[in-house]
Amino acid sequence: MSKYGENDKQGQYWNEAPGQSWVINDTAMNERLQAISDILFQGLDVTGCNNGLDIGCGAGSTTRRLAAIMGNQAKVTGLDISEKLLALARSHPESVGKDFLQADAQSCKFEPEGFDLAISRFGVMFFENPFKAFQNIKSAVQKGREMRFVCWAPISANDFFLSPLNTVVDITGVSFAEPGKEPGPLAFSDRTYLSSILKTAEFSSINIDIIETSISTKDSVEKNASLLMEIGMGFRAIKEAAPTDEVLNEIREAFVADGNKRQKNGFISYDATIYRVSAVA
Ligand SMILES: C[S@@+](CC[C@H](N)C(=O)[O-])C[C@H]1O[C@@H](n2cnc3c(N)ncnc32)[C@H](O)[C@@H]1O
Repeated sequence: MSKYGENDKQGQYWNEAPGQSWVINDTAMNERLQAISDILFQGLDVTGCNNGLDIGCGAGSTTRRLAAIMGNQAKVTGLDISEKLLALARSHPESVGKDFLQADAQSCKFEPEGFDLAISRFGVMFFENPFKAFQNIKSAVQKGREMRFVCWAPISANDFFLSPLNTVVDITGVSFAEPGKEPGPLAFSDRTYLSSILKTAEFSSINIDIIETSISTKDSVEKNASLLMEIGMGFRAIKEAAPTDEVLNEIREAFVADGNKRQKNGFISYDATIYRVSAVA
């Protein structure tokens, strides 16, 4: 088996330049995803939980938050396919005592029912075989215990993706197919499909809440434009279009102009819609 288990393509993706962008922009993304993190953790019942798992934990912001909620006695593990993001996670001063493991959540061998809670902030939409991945994840969670994660609703309800994507398509003329069920941030935006994955894995009490929220930042419009060049659907379309430096500048300027229009009371904001998914193993 390869270094990245059954998810070689995604393993490479998250260990190469795009993963590096998440390393560089970790603080910026945590700021933007603050409201969504609050939604993920809202009302999370950790009573009697001693061993938590954060799937696709990235640089570990939610792993540390989970540990803080679970308390000193609890063990918390962050699992991710990207060594680059895990290295950043491990280097954080508040990561002391947390385990960060490099593994493919789809194919790694979990200790059966080794965890009594599993969470994820946008870390579970990148599997070649999501049916198998969720069967594997279920095997890792104690019977009767919760798995909870957030993932993106359709792109039409997510301005942070749609707006930069439209900008790049307008400027470059690149044809960028609407993302479907392939591994990627929007892989689970069809609720019926998502529900069928969790049912096939034999989770029970499946609940998929649709929650409207926002992505906001106090960053300058220039800094925000730079981030949009490196993360999200605009970035993916730029990669596809492979524009000249001149066109890249045009895109950056368009992102700055859009940021100026959005900025209010010091915040640049985007409408966002997510699913908060809860299921019992
Ligand atoms: C959008 S990022 C989210 C990271 C983090 N949860 C956060 O909110 O900052 C997706 C994460 O999923 C991880 N990932 C992708 N495929 C994976 C797999 N098969 N197994 C484990 N982690 C995976 C990536 O390396 C990346 O860290």
